[in-house]
Amino acid sequence: MSDTLTRRHEVIEPRWWTGSPAVDPSRYRIDCSEFVMDADDLRPDGELATRMRTTFRDVGLVHLTNTGLVEHSDMRAFAKLVVDAEMPYRAGANPRDVLEPNVYEVGAPLQAWLHYHHEMAYVGTSTKMVAFLCKRELPGRGATFVSDNVRATDALLETEFGQKLAELGVCYRRDLTDREAFTDREPIGVYNHWQHSLGTHDPDVAARRAAEKGLQVSWGDDRLLRTRYYASAFEYFPQLDRNLLFSSVADHSMWFDTWPLVEQLPPEQRPLWMTFGDDTDFTADELRQFVDVYDRFGSPIDWRVGDVGVICNFRFAHGRPSIVLGHDEERELGVLLGEPFERWGSVDGKW
Ligand SMILES: [Fe+2]
Repeated sequence: MSDTLTRRHEVIEPRWWTGSPAVDPSRYRIDCSEFVMDADDLRPDGELATRMRTTFRDVGLVHLTNTGLVEHSDMRAFAKLVVDAEMPYRAGANPRDVLEPNVYEVGAPLQAWLHYHHEMAYVGTSTKMVAFLCKRELPGRGATFVSDNVRATDALLETEFGQKLAELGVCYRRDLTDREAFTDREPIGVYNHWQHSLGTHDPDVAARRAAEKGLQVSWGDDRLLRTRYYASAFEYFPQLDRNLLFSSVADHSMWFDTWPLVEQLPPEQRPLWMTFGDDTDFTADELRQFVDVYDRFGSPIDWRVGDVGVICNFRFAHGRPSIVLGHDEERELGVLLGEPFERWGSVDGKW
């Protein structure tokens, strides 16, 4: 590791947006109060399904409001009018608890802010879209933010940093802890045990599965499984026939700046680290630019119970501020992943 790792880093809190939405909500919001939201509205050739798919194709985002739905299973059925092939969370991804079949928990503590990110950018198999289903609302403070990634990509490519990212790519380093090393130890620094992430208790099987995911593997002290994945910082998006930004600081150690039981650790001891693809570190200024470029094109989606949001993983990044619940307050979203795809990275001449 380079000596810059031991330097205390600056904590960068995202601004999320400029204060006015980068994308006019009328372009992607569908008020469902004019629909009955019964089996008839679930017809794939029905009016609602057609509007949802057209909106998603044109904007990369659909937000159903006033649905009157309260159960995840019902919201999922409407999300699936756009999400046609679901993906289960699998080896190498973050652990998620299943709320019901194919609906997962968001899998992050509410008090941690979640930097803008593209879902599963850090492994070889990602997803084309992600859907959120709102079960418990926190109006005004529980919004998810989405950032217009086409504009963020253009803005970043105008900078020296963006050009460097395009040229060098990135390296994702993830340290997976051993569950058995923490049986009677406070889980400080634990993000993801390899047993949970890779679905096995056998270290050889774990290493093999990680390697099958395209990760370089080595073992540290206490059976710490250390993985590296080299990838483009961009991804070619066929529909627009161009490369789009597909990386963010969410896979950097700063992901944990507000994460309970990890935030107190110095960057070099945190479970994630991210560098350029030549293993050199980002400068503080580059990290700031990385956060800013998404913030400049952000829009909030302020969930109400029953809302369904489907987000194209290429055209938008998503994230959210930290949330502190007051007495009697709740905020719960379910997550649905769309069709998986094997990352192919950027394509020459498609900038
Ligand atoms: Fe996410």
